[in-house]
Amino acid sequence: MMEITARVWEGTDYLPRVFDRWLADPGSTFEVAEEQGTVVAFHRLRPLSAGVVLYEGLRVAEEHRRRGVARAMLRHGLEEAASQGFRELRVITGNPAACQLFESEGFRRLVHCAVWLAGRVEGPDLPRLASPEEVPGLLARLREDPAWEVYGGVNADWEQVAELDEQLLGQLAAEGRIRVGPGGRALALLVANPHNRLAVSLVAGSGAILQDLLMGLRFEADSQGYEGVRLFAPPRHPSGDDFAEVGYHLAHGQVQRYAYARELDAL
Ligand SMILES: CC(C)(COP(=O)(O)OP(=O)(O)OC[C@H]1O[C@@H](n2cnc3c(N)ncnc32)[C@H](O)[C@@H]1OP(=O)(O)O)[C@@H](O)C(=O)NCCC(=O)NCCS
Repeated sequence: MMEITARVWEGTDYLPRVFDRWLADPGSTFEVAEEQGTVVAFHRLRPLSAGVVLYEGLRVAEEHRRRGVARAMLRHGLEEAASQGFRELRVITGNPAACQLFESEGFRRLVHCAVWLAGRVEGPDLPRLASPEEVPGLLARLREDPAWEVYGGVNADWEQVAELDEQLLGQLAAEGRIRVGPGGRALALLVANPHNRLAVSLVAGSGAILQDLLMGLRFEADSQGYEGVRLFAPPRHPSGDDFAEVGYHLAHGQVQRYAYARELDAL
């Protein structure tokens, strides 16, 4: 398995870091495909919430690609998920080839995010953390924000492609992962385990309040020793101009992020 992942994304695949945890996780289903006793592909199913399961870690060994192995794995994964009683399977990928595979297997696209980057800056005003008590008000405001529609009501986080509902925001608030502007009029959701940059999976709001929040995230990145901020936002995010105004730029050549879902009752 290490051999398979060593050549994925020029050796930067995250799977070697999580393999041991994955294999030891009794709540998930990890499966491999073998040819003549050698592992040539694998994937995993991880329950996300009642009825919804995440499909992740699909990898096919380079010399076995373009022979239908991934499609066979995916179809098996769909059947396995349906047989375990899940009603929907979700997946996030940054690979256009994988997008073609998922679209050809009847997946609908939930959200597509591009990557914006900004460097760290030393500064005094760190953004405020939202408390769990604020969640109902924040959710009501978010539902009316133009960002709601472009994110499709979904948090585009690799770990947890979840609906933006009270349960999710409550959990994120309890984990200290919601940053807000004054009166909750701008909002950013943080990713749990970022690598080198503070990572934001959703941003809402506009104008000066959003700009202050985005600047605050750059200060926070600095204070926590990150290189800067990585922001995932749909290319047609209504506040793109605000991002640019405070030093964020669209990253070229960076992996884009596509989230898909597939209903399982038809299987
Ligand atoms: C993406 C990946 C899983 C595909 O595996 P595979 O076994 O070669 O895929 P298949 O032969 O089953 O092809 C299924 C479909 O995927 C698409 N596809 C696969 N490789 C492709 C490529 N290089 N270019 C364009 N489309 C491609 C095609 O639509 C293909 O259908 P077709 O053969 O009818 O045209 C494999 O390339 C891989 O492991 N990549 C690195 C890891 C990764 O990106 N995983 C996906 C993350 S969820």
